[in-house]
Amino acid sequence: MIEKLRDSIEDQLQRPLRDLRVSVTDRCNFRCVYCMPREVFGPGYRFVPRSELLRLEEISRIARAFAEQGVRKIRITGGEPLIRRDLERLVEMIAAIEGIEDISMTTNASMLTRERARSLHAAGLKRINISLDALDQPTFQRINDVEFPVGRVLQGIEHAQAVGFNRVKINAVIRRGFNEHSILQLAGHFRGSGAILRFIEFMDVGSTNRWQLDEVVSARQMADIIHAEFPIVLVSPNYRGEVAKRWRYLDGAGEVGFIASVTEPFCGDCARARLSAVGKVYTCLFATEGHDLRDLIREGASDKVLARRIRTIWMSREDRYSELRSSTSATVNRAHRVEMSHIGG
Ligand code: GTP
Ligand code: 5AD
Ligand code: SF4
Ligand code: SF4
Repeated sequence: MIEKLRDSIEDQLQRPLRDLRVSVTDRCNFRCVYCMPREVFGPGYRFVPRSELLRLEEISRIARAFAEQGVRKIRITGGEPLIRRDLERLVEMIAAIEGIEDISMTTNASMLTRERARSLHAAGLKRINISLDALDQPTFQRINDVEFPVGRVLQGIEHAQAVGFNRVKINAVIRRGFNEHSILQLAGHFRGSGAILRFIEFMDVGSTNRWQLDEVVSARQMADIIHAEFPIVLVSPNYRGEVAKRWRYLDGAGEVGFIASVTEPFCGDCARARLSAVGKVYTCLFATEGHDLRDLIREGASDKVLARRIRTIWMSREDRYSELRSSTSATVNRAHRVEMSHIGG
């Protein structure tokens, strides 16, 4: 019996709990140099064994418990989520949870066939965000480090649009020295396509990507580059706490966004919790410790106990890493941070 939906609980900084990002696997078929560098995620790397992964029913139960505490948006991530079998069944289960208004996925689209896109859409998935950092094969390959053809990602994007996903978003991480030239190429390609391109400042997530501040191309710089070629104006956010700043092309070719987590942090409105594939809850992308829910439920915890645990975790939260980083302009706790591939960005 589902408890009556309550208003959201608040953390120590009066931020509600609204979004849950669920990583369904720590594996990925890419080895993006800034996320899963080969030196670390090579043949010897120990990925999570199947028995340690949350089962789909366990994910769904936890998602329901989060919805009861105020979560309205769920995003499925990885690693690469499409690696996980039976994802459609998970989407169906989550879509049926009372209170969930939006269910989306972030993927590299390399495995997004027309059939897969169709079945995910039919299962109730509402939106898809696709990562794509370059349009030219040499650059794309240098980033994904597995020689994956960029044309197949572009096909995946087309499939998503063709089966009825609206406002597909394209996420491009720009890193100085790697792909600044992609800014204009991507903007030119996706203007007028119906897809919404968003540029992301390169972040110091995890402990393996060797981030340096001078590799960050700021949202301001990116916007200037685009504006010089295709004039844009700022538009208001869709909702409070939206991570991307939205701009509109003056000639009517749609919109483009910037996620300025380094130069203009948005911790003040951050209502996101993250659930890893092994069932740990992280209250910040830059967290070092997660709070385990898997053992709790495998030991037979009741819904009440699970709810109490989630409330305690959220109500104790005081993370605002990106704001702290910009005030010290240094990166802290690097060595112990959870990897992006464990909590899906
Ligand atoms: P929408 O619901 O479509 O707005 O999705 P989203 O932008 O929240 O999700 P997506 O997975 O597409 O994330 C895009 C980028 O924003 C990724 O690089 C994320 O790591 C980054 N991002 C999302 N949430 C946070 C956050 O809470 N903190 C920081 N620092 N970055 C975030
Ligand atoms: N900085 C910014 N964005 C990143 N992503 C992965 N690693 C980083 C990083 N270091 C992006 C991916 C994907 C999203 C979930 O996070 O490209 O679009
Ligand atoms: Fe895989 Fe995405 Fe990480 Fe690239 S950024 S290695 S596609 S999870
Ligand atoms: Fe939220 Fe942490 Fe990102 Fe700030 S740094 S927006 S608190 S996830």
